[in-house]
Amino acid sequence: MLRNSFTARNLLRLEQQIKLRRNVILGIETSCDDTGAAVIDLQGKLIGEAISTQKSARFGGVIPTVAMFLHKDKIEHVVTEALNQANKSLEEVTAIAVTNRPGLKGPLIIGTDYAKYLCKKYNKPMIPVHHMIAHALTVRLENEVKFPFMILLISGGHCLLGLAKDVDDFVILGSSINDSPGEALDKIARYLGVHNLPGMRDLSGGQVIEILAKNGDPHAKKLGIPLRDERSCRFSFAGFKGHLHLNLEREKREGKENLNFTREELSDFCAGAQYSITKHLCERLQRGIEYSITMNLMPDKGTLVVSGGVASNQYIRSNLSKICEHYGWNALFPRPKLCTDNGVMIGWTGYELWKRGKDIIQPDQVFDVDVITRCPIGEDISQDVIDANIKCKWIKL
Ligand code: KG4
Ligand code: ZN
Repeated sequence: MLRNSFTARNLLRLEQQIKLRRNVILGIETSCDDTGAAVIDLQGKLIGEAISTQKSARFGGVIPTVAMFLHKDKIEHVVTEALNQANKSLEEVTAIAVTNRPGLKGPLIIGTDYAKYLCKKYNKPMIPVHHMIAHALTVRLENEVKFPFMILLISGGHCLLGLAKDVDDFVILGSSINDSPGEALDKIARYLGVHNLPGMRDLSGGQVIEILAKNGDPHAKKLGIPLRDERSCRFSFAGFKGHLHLNLEREKREGKENLNFTREELSDFCAGAQYSITKHLCERLQRGIEYSITMNLMPDKGTLVVSGGVASNQYIRSNLSKICEHYGWNALFPRPKLCTDNGVMIGWTGYELWKRGKDIIQPDQVFDVDVITRCPIGEDISQDVIDANIKCKWIKL
Protein backbone atom coordinates (compact mmCIF):
# COMPACT_ATOMS: atom_id res chain seq x y z
CA MET A 1 0.00 0.00 0.00
CA LEU A 2 2.73 2.39 1.12
CA ARG A 3 4.86 1.30 -1.80
CA ASN A 4 1.97 1.83 -4.24
CA SER A 5 1.25 5.37 -3.10
CA PHE A 6 4.96 6.17 -3.26
CA THR A 7 5.08 4.95 -6.90
CA ALA A 8 1.91 6.87 -7.77
CA ARG A 9 3.35 10.05 -6.25
CA ASN A 10 6.57 9.57 -8.14
CA LEU A 11 4.71 9.01 -11.36
CA LEU A 12 2.66 12.14 -10.81
CA ARG A 13 5.82 14.17 -10.15
CA LEU A 14 7.43 12.75 -13.28
CA GLU A 15 4.35 13.61 -15.30
CA GLN A 16 4.37 17.17 -13.92
CA GLN A 17 8.04 17.52 -14.72
CA ILE A 18 7.46 16.42 -18.32
CA LYS A 19 4.49 18.81 -18.56
CA LEU A 20 6.67 21.64 -17.28
CA ARG A 21 9.34 20.88 -19.82
CA ARG A 22 6.74 20.48 -22.58
CA ASN A 23 6.76 24.17 -23.22
CA VAL A 24 7.82 24.96 -26.76
CA ILE A 25 6.28 25.35 -30.20
CA LEU A 26 8.17 23.80 -33.12
CA GLY A 27 7.71 25.68 -36.42
CA ILE A 28 8.34 24.20 -39.87
CA GLU A 29 8.46 26.10 -43.21
CA THR A 30 8.79 24.54 -46.69
CA SER A 31 6.37 26.52 -48.88
CA CYS A 32 8.92 27.68 -51.48
CA ASP A 33 12.67 27.02 -51.63
CA ASP A 34 13.79 27.46 -48.01
CA THR A 35 13.62 24.59 -45.52
CA GLY A 36 13.28 26.27 -42.12
CA ALA A 37 12.58 25.18 -38.56
CA ALA A 38 12.51 27.02 -35.24
CA VAL A 39 11.67 26.53 -31.60
CA ILE A 40 9.77 29.22 -29.65
CA ASP A 41 9.15 28.80 -25.93
CA LEU A 42 5.77 29.53 -24.38
CA GLN A 43 7.02 32.94 -23.20
CA GLY A 44 7.45 33.82 -26.89
CA LYS A 45 11.24 33.60 -26.89
CA LEU A 46 13.12 32.21 -29.85
CA ILE A 47 15.45 29.47 -28.56
CA GLY A 48 16.43 27.49 -31.65
CA GLU A 49 16.47 27.97 -35.41
CA ALA A 50 17.90 26.35 -38.51
CA ILE A 51 17.57 26.92 -42.24
CA SER A 52 18.69 25.40 -45.51
CA THR A 53 18.44 27.78 -48.48
CA GLN A 54 18.31 26.69 -52.12
CA LYS A 55 19.30 30.02 -53.74
CA SER A 56 17.10 29.33 -56.78
CA ALA A 57 16.87 32.96 -57.96
CA ARG A 58 20.30 32.63 -59.54
CA PHE A 59 19.11 29.73 -61.69
CA GLY A 60 16.12 31.65 -62.99
CA GLY A 61 13.51 30.80 -60.37
CA VAL A 62 12.26 27.89 -58.31
CA ILE A 63 11.76 24.51 -60.01
CA PRO A 64 9.03 22.91 -57.85
CA THR A 65 10.17 19.29 -58.30
CA VAL A 66 13.80 20.17 -57.50
CA ALA A 67 12.69 22.25 -54.51
CA MET A 68 10.55 19.32 -53.31
CA PHE A 69 13.46 16.90 -53.56
CA LEU A 70 15.76 19.25 -51.63
CA HIS A 71 13.17 19.82 -48.86
CA LYS A 72 12.81 16.06 -48.51
CA ASP A 73 16.56 15.72 -48.23
CA LYS A 74 16.97 18.49 -45.64
CA ILE A 75 13.88 18.59 -43.46
CA GLU A 76 14.83 16.06 -40.79
CA HIS A 77 18.26 17.59 -40.36
CA VAL A 78 16.91 21.16 -40.16
CA VAL A 79 14.29 20.21 -37.53
CA THR A 80 16.86 18.28 -35.47
CA GLU A 81 19.29 21.19 -35.61
CA ALA A 82 16.67 23.68 -34.38
CA LEU A 83 15.66 21.35 -31.52
CA ASN A 84 19.29 20.71 -30.56
CA GLN A 85 20.00 24.41 -30.46
CA ALA A 86 17.01 24.84 -28.15
CA ASN A 87 18.17 21.85 -26.09
CA LYS A 88 14.75 20.26 -26.49
CA SER A 89 13.55 16.83 -27.59
CA LEU A 90 10.42 16.14 -29.60
CA GLU A 91 8.75 14.76 -26.44
CA GLU A 92 9.10 18.22 -24.92
CA VAL A 93 7.30 19.99 -27.78
CA THR A 94 3.81 21.36 -26.97
CA ALA A 95 2.56 21.68 -30.57
CA ILE A 96 3.93 21.63 -34.11
CA ALA A 97 3.18 24.63 -36.36
CA VAL A 98 3.64 24.10 -40.09
CA THR A 99 3.01 26.14 -43.25
CA ASN A 100 0.14 24.43 -45.10
CA ARG A 101 -0.90 27.42 -47.28
CA PRO A 102 -0.28 29.13 -49.73
CA GLY A 103 2.78 28.02 -51.71
CA LEU A 104 4.10 25.43 -54.13
CA LYS A 105 2.22 22.16 -53.86
CA GLY A 106 5.14 19.71 -53.67
CA PRO A 107 7.17 21.73 -51.17
CA LEU A 108 4.08 22.36 -48.99
CA ILE A 109 3.34 18.62 -48.94
CA ILE A 110 6.85 17.75 -47.74
CA GLY A 111 6.63 20.05 -44.69
CA THR A 112 3.02 19.22 -43.86
CA ASP A 113 3.50 15.46 -44.21
CA TYR A 114 6.59 15.55 -42.04
CA ALA A 115 4.69 17.53 -39.39
CA LYS A 116 1.81 15.01 -39.57
CA TYR A 117 4.25 12.15 -39.04
CA LEU A 118 5.79 13.86 -36.00
CA CYS A 119 2.38 14.79 -34.56
CA LYS A 120 1.19 11.20 -34.86
CA LYS A 121 4.39 9.62 -33.55
CA TYR A 122 4.76 11.94 -30.53
CA ASN A 123 1.05 12.60 -29.98
CA LYS A 124 1.25 16.37 -30.55
CA PRO A 125 -1.38 18.83 -31.79
CA MET A 126 -0.75 20.61 -35.09
CA ILE A 127 -1.17 24.31 -35.89
CA PRO A 128 -1.50 24.83 -39.68
CA VAL A 129 -0.08 28.26 -40.56
CA HIS A 130 -0.76 30.68 -43.44
CA HIS A 131 2.63 31.69 -44.89
CA MET A 132 1.72 35.34 -45.54
CA ILE A 133 0.11 35.78 -42.13
CA ALA A 134 3.36 34.48 -40.68
CA HIS A 135 5.34 37.11 -42.66
CA ALA A 136 3.01 39.78 -41.27
CA LEU A 137 3.16 38.68 -37.61
CA THR A 138 6.89 37.95 -37.20
CA VAL A 139 7.63 41.58 -36.35
CA ARG A 140 5.84 41.00 -33.02
CA LEU A 141 8.59 38.59 -31.96
CA GLU A 142 10.96 41.50 -31.47
CA ASN A 143 8.76 44.62 -31.34
CA GLU A 144 5.67 45.55 -29.41
CA VAL A 145 3.31 46.20 -32.30
CA LYS A 146 -0.37 46.47 -31.47
CA PHE A 147 -3.22 45.64 -33.86
CA PRO A 148 -4.27 47.12 -36.21
CA PHE A 149 -1.17 47.79 -38.31
CA MET A 150 -0.52 48.11 -42.02
CA ILE A 151 1.55 45.47 -43.82
CA LEU A 152 3.56 45.66 -47.02
CA LEU A 153 4.91 42.25 -48.03
CA ILE A 154 7.44 42.49 -50.85
CA SER A 155 9.52 39.50 -51.94
CA GLY A 156 10.26 37.21 -54.85
CA GLY A 157 6.91 35.50 -54.40
CA HIS A 158 4.60 38.16 -53.02
CA CYS A 159 3.47 41.76 -53.22
CA LEU A 160 0.66 42.78 -50.93
CA LEU A 161 -0.49 45.89 -49.11
CA GLY A 162 -3.00 45.18 -46.35
CA LEU A 163 -4.16 45.66 -42.79
CA ALA A 164 -3.56 43.28 -39.91
CA LYS A 165 -6.52 43.66 -37.55
CA ASP A 166 -5.77 40.56 -35.43
CA VAL A 167 -3.76 37.33 -35.67
CA ASP A 168 -6.40 35.86 -37.95
CA ASP A 169 -8.11 38.95 -39.35
CA PHE A 170 -6.58 40.63 -42.41
CA VAL A 171 -7.80 42.76 -45.31
CA ILE A 172 -6.07 43.30 -48.64
CA LEU A 173 -5.91 46.89 -49.92
CA GLY A 174 -4.05 45.82 -53.05
CA SER A 175 -1.78 43.12 -54.43
CA SER A 176 0.16 42.59 -57.64
CA ILE A 177 -1.76 41.88 -60.82
CA ASN A 178 1.31 40.10 -62.28
CA ASP A 179 4.91 39.75 -61.05
CA SER A 180 6.35 40.52 -57.62
CA PRO A 181 9.00 43.26 -57.10
CA GLY A 182 11.64 40.59 -56.39
CA GLU A 183 10.85 38.87 -59.71
CA ALA A 184 11.20 42.22 -61.50
CA LEU A 185 14.58 42.90 -59.86
CA ASP A 186 15.83 39.38 -60.62
CA LYS A 187 14.73 39.60 -64.27
CA ILE A 188 16.30 43.05 -64.72
CA ALA A 189 19.57 41.86 -63.17
CA ARG A 190 19.70 38.83 -65.48
CA TYR A 191 18.79 40.95 -68.47
CA LEU A 192 21.61 43.41 -67.74
CA GLY A 193 24.00 40.52 -67.08
CA VAL A 194 25.21 42.16 -63.87
CA HIS A 195 25.93 38.80 -62.24
CA ASN A 196 28.99 38.60 -64.48
CA LEU A 197 30.65 41.52 -62.71
CA PRO A 198 33.36 40.56 -60.20
CA GLY A 199 32.00 39.53 -56.80
CA MET A 200 28.33 39.48 -57.88
CA ARG A 201 27.91 35.83 -58.91
CA ASP A 202 26.43 34.53 -55.68
CA LEU A 203 24.12 37.44 -54.90
CA SER A 204 20.41 37.73 -55.67
CA GLY A 205 19.30 40.09 -58.44
CA GLY A 206 17.93 42.55 -55.89
CA GLN A 207 21.20 42.62 -53.97
CA VAL A 208 23.31 43.25 -57.10
CA ILE A 209 20.98 46.04 -58.20
CA GLU A 210 21.16 47.67 -54.77
CA ILE A 211 24.98 47.58 -54.75
CA LEU A 212 25.39 48.97 -58.28
CA ALA A 213 22.64 51.56 -57.84
CA LYS A 214 24.65 53.20 -55.04
CA ASN A 215 27.02 54.67 -57.65
CA GLY A 216 24.37 55.37 -60.28
CA ASP A 217 22.17 58.32 -61.14
CA PRO A 218 18.52 57.30 -60.49
CA HIS A 219 17.25 59.86 -63.02
CA ALA A 220 19.57 59.06 -65.95
CA LYS A 221 17.83 55.88 -67.12
CA LYS A 222 14.46 55.82 -65.35
CA LEU A 223 11.74 53.30 -66.20
CA GLY A 224 8.05 54.27 -66.28
CA ILE A 225 5.82 54.15 -63.19
CA PRO A 226 2.99 51.61 -63.68
CA LEU A 227 -0.78 51.93 -63.06
CA ARG A 228 -0.64 55.68 -62.54
CA ASP A 229 -4.04 56.18 -64.13
CA GLU A 230 -5.69 53.78 -61.67
CA ARG A 231 -6.40 55.25 -58.23
CA SER A 232 -5.82 51.95 -56.50
CA CYS A 233 -3.34 50.16 -54.27
CA ARG A 234 -2.77 47.42 -56.85
CA PHE A 235 0.75 46.77 -58.11
CA SER A 236 2.24 45.81 -61.45
CA PHE A 237 5.88 44.84 -61.97
CA ALA A 238 5.78 42.91 -65.25
CA GLY A 239 6.28 45.99 -67.44
CA PHE A 240 9.66 47.08 -66.03
CA LYS A 241 11.71 44.58 -67.99
CA GLY A 242 9.96 45.52 -71.26
CA HIS A 243 10.60 49.19 -70.55
CA LEU A 244 14.27 48.46 -69.91
CA HIS A 245 14.40 46.51 -73.16
CA LEU A 246 13.11 49.58 -75.03
CA ASN A 247 15.77 51.76 -73.35
CA LEU A 248 18.50 49.32 -74.37
CA GLU A 249 17.21 49.20 -77.94
CA ARG A 250 17.33 52.99 -78.05
CA GLU A 251 20.94 52.98 -76.83
CA LYS A 252 21.73 50.48 -79.58
CA ARG A 253 20.21 52.75 -82.21
CA GLU A 254 22.24 55.63 -80.81
CA GLY A 255 25.43 53.74 -81.59
CA LYS A 256 26.12 51.76 -78.44
CA GLU A 257 27.48 48.52 -79.95
CA ASN A 258 26.89 45.03 -78.51
CA LEU A 259 25.29 46.45 -75.40
CA ASN A 260 28.76 46.46 -73.91
CA PHE A 261 28.12 48.79 -71.03
CA THR A 262 30.67 50.09 -68.57
CA ARG A 263 30.13 49.56 -64.84
CA GLU A 264 29.10 53.25 -64.57
CA GLU A 265 26.42 52.83 -67.24
CA LEU A 266 25.16 49.61 -65.63
CA SER A 267 25.01 51.48 -62.32
CA ASP A 268 22.75 54.10 -63.92
CA PHE A 269 20.44 51.37 -65.29
CA CYS A 270 20.28 49.73 -61.85
CA ALA A 271 19.68 53.06 -60.07
CA GLY A 272 16.90 53.86 -62.58
CA ALA A 273 15.21 50.46 -62.08
CA GLN A 274 15.52 50.67 -58.30
CA TYR A 275 14.10 54.21 -58.35
CA SER A 276 11.08 53.27 -60.50
CA ILE A 277 10.24 50.17 -58.42
CA THR A 278 10.60 52.16 -55.19
CA LYS A 279 8.46 55.00 -56.53
CA HIS A 280 5.70 52.55 -57.49
CA LEU A 281 5.78 50.97 -54.01
CA CYS A 282 5.74 54.43 -52.36
CA GLU A 283 2.80 55.67 -54.44
CA ARG A 284 0.70 52.61 -53.56
CA LEU A 285 1.66 52.90 -49.89
CA GLN A 286 0.75 56.60 -49.87
CA ARG A 287 -2.71 55.86 -51.24
CA GLY A 288 -3.12 52.98 -48.77
CA ILE A 289 -2.31 55.28 -45.85
CA GLU A 290 -4.67 58.00 -47.10
CA TYR A 291 -7.44 55.44 -47.68
CA SER A 292 -7.13 53.91 -44.22
CA ILE A 293 -7.08 57.35 -42.58
CA THR A 294 -10.13 58.51 -44.60
CA MET A 295 -12.04 55.33 -43.75
CA ASN A 296 -10.98 55.37 -40.09
CA LEU A 297 -9.41 51.93 -40.44
CA MET A 298 -6.20 52.90 -38.65
CA PRO A 299 -5.33 55.01 -35.61
CA ASP A 300 -3.94 58.52 -36.13
CA LYS A 301 -0.33 57.51 -35.68
CA GLY A 302 -0.34 54.22 -37.51
CA THR A 303 2.37 51.61 -37.93
CA LEU A 304 3.57 50.09 -41.18
CA VAL A 305 5.36 46.74 -41.11
CA VAL A 306 7.39 45.90 -44.21
CA SER A 307 8.67 42.38 -44.76
CA GLY A 308 9.87 39.98 -47.49
CA GLY A 309 13.29 39.71 -49.19
CA VAL A 310 12.94 43.05 -51.02
CA ALA A 311 12.43 44.79 -47.65
CA SER A 312 16.14 44.33 -46.94
CA ASN A 313 16.91 46.99 -49.58
CA GLN A 314 18.09 50.12 -47.75
CA TYR A 315 17.02 52.55 -50.50
CA ILE A 316 13.49 51.08 -50.52
CA ARG A 317 13.42 51.10 -46.71
CA SER A 318 14.40 54.73 -46.36
CA ASN A 319 11.88 55.90 -48.95
CA LEU A 320 9.00 53.90 -47.44
CA SER A 321 9.97 55.35 -44.06
CA LYS A 322 9.88 58.83 -45.57
CA ILE A 323 6.29 58.31 -46.74
CA CYS A 324 5.33 57.12 -43.25
CA GLU A 325 7.06 60.06 -41.56
CA HIS A 326 5.05 62.47 -43.71
CA TYR A 327 1.84 61.13 -42.08
CA GLY A 328 3.35 60.80 -38.59
CA TRP A 329 3.41 57.01 -38.97
CA ASN A 330 6.06 54.59 -37.77
CA ALA A 331 7.71 52.18 -40.25
CA LEU A 332 9.10 48.90 -38.90
CA PHE A 333 11.25 46.37 -40.71
CA PRO A 334 12.10 43.01 -39.15
CA ARG A 335 15.83 42.26 -39.35
CA PRO A 336 16.74 40.90 -42.82
CA LYS A 337 17.00 37.26 -41.65
CA LEU A 338 13.39 37.43 -40.48
CA CYS A 339 12.20 39.22 -43.66
CA THR A 340 13.01 36.28 -45.94
CA ASP A 341 11.34 32.87 -45.60
CA ASN A 342 12.32 31.07 -42.40
CA GLY A 343 11.06 28.69 -39.73
CA VAL A 344 10.98 31.38 -37.03
CA MET A 345 7.96 33.11 -38.56
CA ILE A 346 6.01 29.84 -38.51
CA GLY A 347 7.01 29.01 -34.93
CA TRP A 348 6.07 32.54 -33.86
CA THR A 349 2.66 32.41 -35.59
CA GLY A 350 2.08 28.99 -34.01
CA TYR A 351 2.82 30.59 -30.64
CA GLU A 352 0.39 33.49 -31.31
CA LEU A 353 -2.38 31.05 -32.27
CA TRP A 354 -1.61 28.67 -29.38
CA LYS A 355 -1.87 31.53 -26.87
CA ARG A 356 -5.35 32.32 -28.18
CA GLY A 357 -6.39 28.66 -28.53
CA LYS A 358 -6.98 29.12 -32.27
CA ASP A 359 -6.52 26.67 -35.18
CA ILE A 360 -5.27 23.81 -32.99
CA ILE A 361 -5.74 20.39 -34.59
CA GLN A 362 -5.74 17.41 -32.23
CA PRO A 363 -3.22 14.61 -32.95
CA ASP A 364 -5.88 12.16 -34.17
CA GLN A 365 -7.13 14.68 -36.74
CA VAL A 366 -3.88 15.87 -38.28
CA PHE A 367 -4.31 13.64 -41.33
CA ASP A 368 -7.35 15.74 -42.31
CA VAL A 369 -5.15 18.86 -42.75
CA ASP A 370 -4.72 19.66 -46.45
CA VAL A 371 -2.20 21.84 -48.24
CA ILE A 372 -3.70 24.80 -50.15
CA THR A 373 -1.63 26.31 -52.95
CA ARG A 374 -3.67 29.51 -53.29
CA CYS A 375 -5.27 31.09 -50.29
CA PRO A 376 -5.89 34.83 -49.78
CA ILE A 377 -4.72 36.30 -46.49
CA GLY A 378 -8.15 37.89 -45.94
CA GLU A 379 -10.94 39.87 -47.57
CA ASP A 380 -9.83 41.73 -50.71
CA ILE A 381 -11.11 45.31 -50.55
CA SER A 382 -9.01 46.61 -53.46
CA GLN A 383 -12.20 47.53 -55.37
CA ASP A 384 -13.38 49.65 -52.41
CA VAL A 385 -10.05 51.50 -52.60
CA ILE A 386 -10.60 52.16 -56.31
CA ASP A 387 -14.20 53.29 -55.65
CA ALA A 388 -12.94 55.75 -52.99
CA ASN A 389 -11.09 57.48 -55.87
CA ILE A 390 -8.34 58.94 -53.70
CA LYS A 391 -6.12 61.43 -55.50
CA CYS A 392 -2.76 61.82 -53.81
CA LYS A 393 -0.23 64.63 -53.95
CA TRP A 394 2.90 62.54 -54.44
CA ILE A 395 5.67 62.90 -51.91
CA LYS A 396 9.06 63.37 -53.61
CA LEU A 397 11.59 60.58 -53.07
O1 KG4 B 1 11.56 36.62 -49.34
P1 KG4 B 1 12.59 36.08 -50.25
O2 KG4 B 1 13.90 35.67 -49.66
O3 KG4 B 1 12.11 34.80 -50.99
C1 KG4 B 1 10.95 34.60 -51.68
O4 KG4 B 1 10.43 35.51 -52.32
O5 KG4 B 1 10.53 33.47 -51.62
O6 KG4 B 1 12.82 37.17 -51.38
C2 KG4 B 1 13.71 36.96 -52.42
C3 KG4 B 1 13.71 38.18 -53.29
C4 KG4 B 1 14.55 38.02 -54.54
O7 KG4 B 1 13.78 38.34 -55.65
C5 KG4 B 1 15.68 38.99 -54.34
O8 KG4 B 1 16.16 39.56 -55.53
C6 KG4 B 1 15.08 40.02 -53.43
O9 KG4 B 1 14.22 39.30 -52.58
N1 KG4 B 1 16.09 40.70 -52.64
C7 KG4 B 1 16.33 42.03 -52.72
C8 KG4 B 1 17.43 42.30 -51.87
N2 KG4 B 1 17.80 41.13 -51.29
C9 KG4 B 1 16.98 40.17 -51.78
N3 KG4 B 1 15.72 42.98 -53.44
C10 KG4 B 1 16.19 44.22 -53.30
N4 KG4 B 1 17.23 44.56 -52.54
C11 KG4 B 1 17.88 43.64 -51.80
N5 KG4 B 1 18.90 43.98 -51.02
ZN1 ZN C 1 7.55 34.27 -48.19
